[in-house]
Amino acid sequence: MFNSENINLNILKQRAFNLRWATQAEGVIPLTAADPDFPCAPEITEAISKYIKDRYLSYGPSQGLPILRESIANYYLQKRGVKFNPDYVLPVDSAAFGIYVACKSFLKKGDEAIIFDPVDFLFRYSIETIGAIAVPFPIHPEKQKPDFEILESLISPSCKMICLCNPLNPSGKVFTKEELLKIGEIAEKHNLLILSDEIWSDIVFQPTTYTCISALNESISNRTIIVHGFSKSYGLAGLRIGMLLTSNSRLFDAMFQNSLHQSTVHGVNILSQVAANTALTECEYWLSGFVNHLQKMRDLTVSSLNSMPGITCHVPDACYVAFANIQATGKSSAEIQQYILDEAKVAIVPGLKQWFGEGAEGYVRLCFSTSDEILNEALNRINKALMKL
Ligand SMILES: Cc1ncc(COP(=O)(O)O)c(C=O)c1O
Repeated sequence: MFNSENINLNILKQRAFNLRWATQAEGVIPLTAADPDFPCAPEITEAISKYIKDRYLSYGPSQGLPILRESIANYYLQKRGVKFNPDYVLPVDSAAFGIYVACKSFLKKGDEAIIFDPVDFLFRYSIETIGAIAVPFPIHPEKQKPDFEILESLISPSCKMICLCNPLNPSGKVFTKEELLKIGEIAEKHNLLILSDEIWSDIVFQPTTYTCISALNESISNRTIIVHGFSKSYGLAGLRIGMLLTSNSRLFDAMFQNSLHQSTVHGVNILSQVAANTALTECEYWLSGFVNHLQKMRDLTVSSLNSMPGITCHVPDACYVAFANIQATGKSSAEIQQYILDEAKVAIVPGLKQWFGEGAEGYVRLCFSTSDEILNEALNRINKALMKL
C-alpha cells in the first residue's frame, strides 16, 4: 500500500496544493506541507460513493452527524482512555478552524495565550487574528525538555490559555505524563484553559506512547479543549474535517456558538463527515500500515540527514517531519532552503517565524510521508548539493 506503485504523480501534480506537487516547478520533489503522497483508504471513497448514489445532499445537523460524534467519542474512549459525552463533540471543517474557534470563543482583544516555540503557525495566526497576543514559550527542538519555571514566568494576569501541541510539530516531541501533569498544574494555579492540539497523536513511533492530557484527571479535563483532525492520519486534508471535544458543557456551548454552525454560515460538509466516520470505524488497518511505513521512512530520513555535511537531525518520536539542524552550514534556514531548491530540486520548509516561530531559525523541516523511492531520490539530491557548498 505504501510504495511508489501506489503513488500517482500525475494526479498529485494536478491536485496536491499548499506548497506540494501542484505548486512546484516540473522536476521538483516537495517535502514541504505535511500531507501524504499516498491515496486514502479505499473504504473512505467507497463510503462517499455509496452516500452520493441516493442523490440527496440535504443540510446536516448543525452539531454534526450523530454517528460521527459517537465514533469520535468511542475513539477517545478506546484509544485515549477518556470518556467524552458525544453531545460535547463538535465536528468542524478542519483542525485549523477548530483552533480558531477555540481562540475566538475564549480570548478577547489584548488577552494573552502561551504558544510553544517552535510550533506550527496556526496557533499564532488564530490568536493574532482575533487581536489577542501570542506569548512564545521556547522548547528546544533537540533537547526537548520544557523549563516550567520559564513557562510560569511568562504567565501574566492577561494570560487566558496555554496552547499545547502534542505531539509537537515540527520537532516531533511527545509530552510525557509528568510534563502534562505539570502543564495541568500550572493551568490550574493560574486558572488557564488548555487548548490541546492532538492532530498528530496517531502518528507516534514505537516505543513512545502517547498520553492525552484530558486522561490525567477530571479537573484538568474540565479546563481542556481538544482539537483533532483527519488530515495527518488519514490523508483527508482536502475534505477539511476536524473536531473539537471537551468534557465541559460551558466550554462546548461557547464553541458551538462561535463556530457559526447554527446559522449555517459554517458547518462541515456532509461527505467529509461520512468520510471521517468511515476512517474511524473501518480504516484502523490502513492507519497502522501507514505508521509502520512512516517509522521506516523516519529512520531512513534521519540517518541520511545525519550523514550529510553541515546537518544534524534528532530522531522525532512522532509526526512525519524531520526538523534538521543546519547551523553548521553557516547559512540561514531561508538560504539553505533556496539553495536546496535551486541545486537539488527539492522543496523543503525553512525555519522561519512565519511558519514555526523565532525558535525555528537554524532548522529546516522535511516531510517524509512518501515512498522510500521518492525519499531516497530527494535525500540523495540534497546530499549531492550540500557536498558542493
Ligand atoms: C499541529 C497542527 N495542527 C493543525 C493542523 C491543520 O490541520 P487541518 O488540515 O485539519 O486544518 C496542522 C497541519 O499541519 C498541524 O500540524
